[in-house]
Amino acid sequence: MPKPPLRLQTTTLWDYPSQNYGPGRQGDTTYVGATPSYVIWNLLQRYTRPGDLVVDPMAGSGTTLDVARDCKRRALGYDLQPPRKDVFRANARKLPLEDAKADFVFVDPPYSDHIEYSGRPECIGELKADSDAYYEEMGKAIAEIDRILRPERYLALYVCDSWNKGKPLMPIGLRLFGMLSQRFTPVDVVAVARHNASLKRNHWHTAAIEGNYFLRGFNYCFVLFKEGRLRDGPFPDRRDPEEVQEHVADRTPGGPD
Ligand SMILES: C[S@@+](CC[C@H](N)C(=O)[O-])C[C@H]1O[C@@H](n2cnc3c(N)ncnc32)[C@H](O)[C@@H]1O
Repeated sequence: MPKPPLRLQTTTLWDYPSQNYGPGRQGDTTYVGATPSYVIWNLLQRYTRPGDLVVDPMAGSGTTLDVARDCKRRALGYDLQPPRKDVFRANARKLPLEDAKADFVFVDPPYSDHIEYSGRPECIGELKADSDAYYEEMGKAIAEIDRILRPERYLALYVCDSWNKGKPLMPIGLRLFGMLSQRFTPVDVVAVARHNASLKRNHWHTAAIEGNYFLRGFNYCFVLFKEGRLRDGPFPDRRDPEEVQEHVADRTPGGPD
């Protein structure tokens, strides 16, 4: 099936049927837990302008780097176990970056311990999200994001809740949103439709009916703002006016589509 054109999402329910947009690739689709690249593209079009420095402290296969470069933004990515050379080895709780350097931070952290990323003890994916330890360590990573982000800039965190049969829900999204809101001002909460391979398996759906539970159908994407000077009005618009015009034209009757 051909991919639909890449357009700005305009509601708080985001959906795009492919992990990658366009003819190329962003990040590595075989990297377990890679972020769908259109999510990062939408965020950068909304909250950054060309030349801005975009930082991803848990960059994995580098989807953020590829999208940022596609959009003519500068990019820095870190990971405990970098799978490529332009992702630098660092712990998200202690990044080798000066204070207030980033114009935008995107992070897609591990959600509990379902995936083994590196097996290293510092990996947040070694911690179950029903433990206090997960939130304590995520708290340190969030504090580090606060340190490296410039005031009057935006950040986004992409995360999914976790559920295991017979156990209480682990509402990771809501808990992390609460933690983020203590440092930053909420801008929006987006639900991103999941297209995981497991969701295509009919027997998973049958089991969900038989067992009377739900499969995780969406990820949260939280957008927040780091306040600077006292603000008495709307959030500052960081967008490039020419890019905005292109997106408006894309939605204008008689335009593309
Ligand atoms: C969900 S994946 C990120 C996927 C990435 N956005 C992509 O598109 O490929 C989470 C990443 O967090 C990394 N990670 C876990 N704990 C970390 C830590 N303390 N510091 C840096 N990276 C960490 C893992 O190695 C893994 O690559």
